Amino acid sequence: MAETPLFLLDFDSTLVAAESLEVMADVCLPDDAEGARRRARIAELTAAGMEGRVDFGVALRERLALLQMTRAQLPAIVARLAATLSPSFRANRAFLAEHAPRIHVLSSGFRELIEPVVAELGIAAQQVHANTLRFGSDGALLGCDEAHPLAQAGGKVALLRTLDLPQPRVMVGDGWSDLEVAEAGLAERFYAYTEHVRRSAVLVRAQRQAASFDEVLHDLGLRGAHSYPKSKLKVLLLENIHPSAVEAFHAAGYGVETHAGALDEAALIERIADVAVIGIRSKTRLTARVLEQARRLVVVGAFCIGTNQIDLAAARARGIAVFNAPYSNTRSVVELAIAEIILLLRGLPAKLRQMDQGIWDKSVGPAREVRGKTLGIVGYGSIGMQLSVLAEAAGMRVIYHDLAERLALGTARRMPSLHALLAESDAVSVHVDGRAENRMLFGAAEFAAMRPGSVFVNLARGHVADLDALKAALDSGHLRGAALDVFPEEPARNGDAFTHPLRSDARLLLTPHIGGSTLEAQEDIGRYVGQRLIDYLDTGSTEGAVNVPALRLPPQASAHRLVHLHANQPGVLARINEALSAHGANILGQYLKTEGDVGYVISDVDRDYSPALLDAIRAVPHTLRFRVLY
Ligand SMILES: NC(=O)c1ccc[n+]([C@@H]2O[C@H](COP(=O)([O-])OP(=O)(O)OC[C@H]3O[C@@H](n4cnc5c(N)ncnc54)[C@H](O)[C@@H]3O)[C@@H](O)[C@H]2O)c1
Repeated sequence: MAETPLFLLDFDSTLVAAESLEVMADVCLPDDAEGARRRARIAELTAAGMEGRVDFGVALRERLALLQMTRAQLPAIVARLAATLSPSFRANRAFLAEHAPRIHVLSSGFRELIEPVVAELGIAAQQVHANTLRFGSDGALLGCDEAHPLAQAGGKVALLRTLDLPQPRVMVGDGWSDLEVAEAGLAERFYAYTEHVRRSAVLVRAQRQAASFDEVLHDLGLRGAHSYPKSKLKVLLLENIHPSAVEAFHAAGYGVETHAGALDEAALIERIADVAVIGIRSKTRLTARVLEQARRLVVVGAFCIGTNQIDLAAARARGIAVFNAPYSNTRSVVELAIAEIILLLRGLPAKLRQMDQGIWDKSVGPAREVRGKTLGIVGYGSIGMQLSVLAEAAGMRVIYHDLAERLALGTARRMPSLHALLAESDAVSVHVDGRAENRMLFGAAEFAAMRPGSVFVNLARGHVADLDALKAALDSGHLRGAALDVFPEEPARNGDAFTHPLRSDARLLLTPHIGGSTLEAQEDIGRYVGQRLIDYLDTGSTEGAVNVPALRLPPQASAHRLVHLHANQPGVLARINEALSAHGANILGQYLKTEGDVGYVISDVDRDYSPALLDAIRAVPHTLRFRVLY
């Protein structure tokens, strides 16, 4: 569409994030059971009306009657609605002002609420087409103008037929009545608007959807406040990543494709060609070969802890940032550690096996409470520190040993050496990281240094403990029991045999590397990694990235942000700045960080720069990836 069309903008859940009737209910209805009942009924009727499941006029009358509103409540309702004004319309206030005669609001809501709110966007009262409320002389709400076309089903279509508005017209809205306008041929285009809500009944019938007003403008070939349309970036999430990630992307205005399983290399190479953002878990391997085909890939989300499945160097060489979730399952590991320490000190592994075999034996030997016992934590990092807090809450005395200087939490005591810790602990729990020097950190000497009758827990890494030495310490009766979640060699796939000789040992609690696997951890990983990817796309922030320098940046609303990843060679920043100055760009802020063989420069510049500037920066030698945000 070459010329600027006439815009018909819906109000509820499009220009504002809220539904007017729900806001009216929030302001007017009491905070009690009856209020809650009426609110729920209003929400139900709103959704049903939006999706064309009940007659609009009927739903409207019933909802207004449920409100018990007075005229005096109007300002409070307006203030609440104004607070939810859509960010993307707000950002495009200049466009709306420039094209004011072509911007119309078409809503089945009420002008008493809409006019003051859209005035903030510079939209004049005569451009608003809406119903009016009717109040009695005592100020009580009586209803609305029932004779108005907008009080009926199909009201937008009926009203538009009576207005003599110029063509071509574009309808932007989230609801059924907006779709009807286009289907009646009264608008050349309809954009199902998803910045705030996604109504599936509308989306399946709409030819186009847009998560922001910028996307609408971009699709129409017009220039809005932001230069890149989010819907053009393809986001693909594999391996059943938690829906919390999908929600985060939707909330930020991105569409998402999901695939339940992992993809093998061939399938991945085929699928990845047009993908900008890929989310994987541990089963999808992003090899150098796959990354070579990923020409549009900007960022990878590893929705898990480890990143071994990704060729990080190959990704870095292509300017592809990789994010993971190192801490999302910390609490899950800690809870299992506590549970296992309790089970071991009670001697429960043997009891569980006896019950399994049908043996009823109430003799418990030296079953102990954890209260007052000493827990030795080896590795006082994220997990070790949180375990410290929970163990103290359960009444344990906590001592710890860490190679690094770590502040003691609560009344925990730092021990000068591993052996000093072992000599005092009733239970030892290992939470060191996977560095090579930690191989066989626990051998015969360490088990021997533990207190007689004490227990050992390893939820860290399989290579940390010598299991033959552990078995000897158990056989001699020196140690009471142990819990292992990680093993020197672990089966590759679910269902593969676990053949370790210790597997039927009645003094052990064995689990298949599930210390961090809980629903809560999955949900947190989805939300956390999803948000890191969105921050990177929207602001250039690399905080939490594993293969590029970390820069944390605020969103920059009044500038264009140029983000540039490059091979860390002398002179790159100077070349970028030469290009900026040669093209007369006004730099509002600049950030640089280098790490190893990669450098990351962010330049915030005034909006007015020539497109040739972008080509000039792209042509700077050693450029790995260049993006323009906003
Ligand atoms: N079982 C599971 O499912 C599961 C889940 C998550 C994490 N983990 C493992 O748990 C371990 C701890 O994770 P985290 O997030 O707390 O790591 P972290 O990096 O936050 O903490 C590790 C700590 O160990 C210390 N350390 C390293 N070597 C040491 C040594 N030889 N002696 C004393 N201190 C030493 C480090 O200084 C650091 O403070 C890691 O090995 C991780 O792989 C297992």
